[in-house]
Amino acid sequence: MAIEIEQRPTVVRLSNVATSDTHGEDSPYFAGWKAYDENPFDEVHNPSGVIQMGLAENQVSFDLLEEYLEKKKDDGVAEISRFRENALFQDYHGLVCFRKAMASFMEQVRGGRERFDPDRVVITAGATAANELLTFILADPGDALLVPTPYYPGFDRDLRWRTGVKIVPVHCDSSNNFQVTLQALEEAYKDAESNNIKVRGVLLTNPSNPLGATVQRCVLEEIFEFVARKNIHLVSDEIYSGSVFCCSEFVSIAEILESRNYKDSERVHIVYSLSKDLGLPGFRVGTIYSYNDKVVTTARRMSSFTLISSQTQQLLASMLSDEKFTENYIKKNRERLRRRYEMMIEGLRSAGIECLRGNAGLFCWMNLSTLLEKPTKECELEVWNTILHEVKLNISPGSSCHCSEPGWFRVCFANMSENTLEIALKRIHHFMETRDILQKY
Ligand SMILES: Cc1ncc(COP(=O)(O)O)c(C=O)c1O
Repeated sequence: MAIEIEQRPTVVRLSNVATSDTHGEDSPYFAGWKAYDENPFDEVHNPSGVIQMGLAENQVSFDLLEEYLEKKKDDGVAEISRFRENALFQDYHGLVCFRKAMASFMEQVRGGRERFDPDRVVITAGATAANELLTFILADPGDALLVPTPYYPGFDRDLRWRTGVKIVPVHCDSSNNFQVTLQALEEAYKDAESNNIKVRGVLLTNPSNPLGATVQRCVLEEIFEFVARKNIHLVSDEIYSGSVFCCSEFVSIAEILESRNYKDSERVHIVYSLSKDLGLPGFRVGTIYSYNDKVVTTARRMSSFTLISSQTQQLLASMLSDEKFTENYIKKNRERLRRRYEMMIEGLRSAGIECLRGNAGLFCWMNLSTLLEKPTKECELEVWNTILHEVKLNISPGSSCHCSEPGWFRVCFANMSENTLEIALKRIHHFMETRDILQKY
């Protein structure tokens, strides 16, 4: 009798990077997006669908961008005339006109208080690529970056996955509105040291995602002194710098350096992108602005892997160097974001919900801790689940941002129409009212 040998399909091995789960995409942050994709709200076609409030996208000023593009079309700037120029080889330095325009836009959103040198602007495909690229340059596999919590969930992927670098959380809490303290920094540093992990830098997000608030000047000074003392780097992700409702409330790390005559500035690197302030995440345009010559050179070489097309650079170079347009855009965009924010916190307040006082960004940081049966991550996720599946709102639980206090949620307000936001607020109001009634009986 013939013996049957089981024929197992051969498994072709993939690399450790490909099979690693450090990309973090199994978190509720992304699960909520899936639930939205399966049943997206539409005022006419699907009014009972899920409203996406977990996406930090800025659609409030699209009309201004469209108006600009229409005008350019009428001015007769023919794309065809640029065809050859755009189609030919582009080296990794990026177009000079675009780097100049980006530097001047970065100055403008900071109210002209700091100067940016176009020769230090390294172009990348969004802030995602900028943060990863910087991590590759500043740290080796197994080393760590200290990141204050709560932080943008994408950092788990951007800083860790392909680089093999670790994130050591710097725990912040509501006792001081989640501002970073020296004590928390020291504790995180010690924690890494006791695990034999080398700390290479601190990555700060200012204004913060998910808090929707700027970092105070005194806190920035303290963080800067800390990195200088430890002889490590400071990456300042300032992707929301133009989305501060009042320009004077934002202090860039560039301003701190300027006030210190650029002493120790070679350890500082700013990340920026047009995904939020201009609402163009699909264009994939970001930058690393480093005060360290070696980092600039290396980042430029590495940016070959994540360059943006010449066509996109040309279009944005002409848009961003039109100062009349940018001035009007920045002003109006700030006003509109502030209006949305106020609409949001007023609506939540009337439903009995408080938020952290914010002054920037495309979201607010909502406190639902009183709804939790117990102050645990599991109970937080239960509330999140109810809000997603019963109230049909996709919001982001604080635990997906590594918040150490359960019960906080990030709620986005700029990726929808005002009408949709009103519907979302009505749903929350109804949810809170029904809960109150059920609790009384
Ligand atoms: C703090 C922060 N950094 C980086 C990114 C990634 O931005 P980009 O679309 O430019 O890659 C985001 C996007 O939400 C963000 O909030």
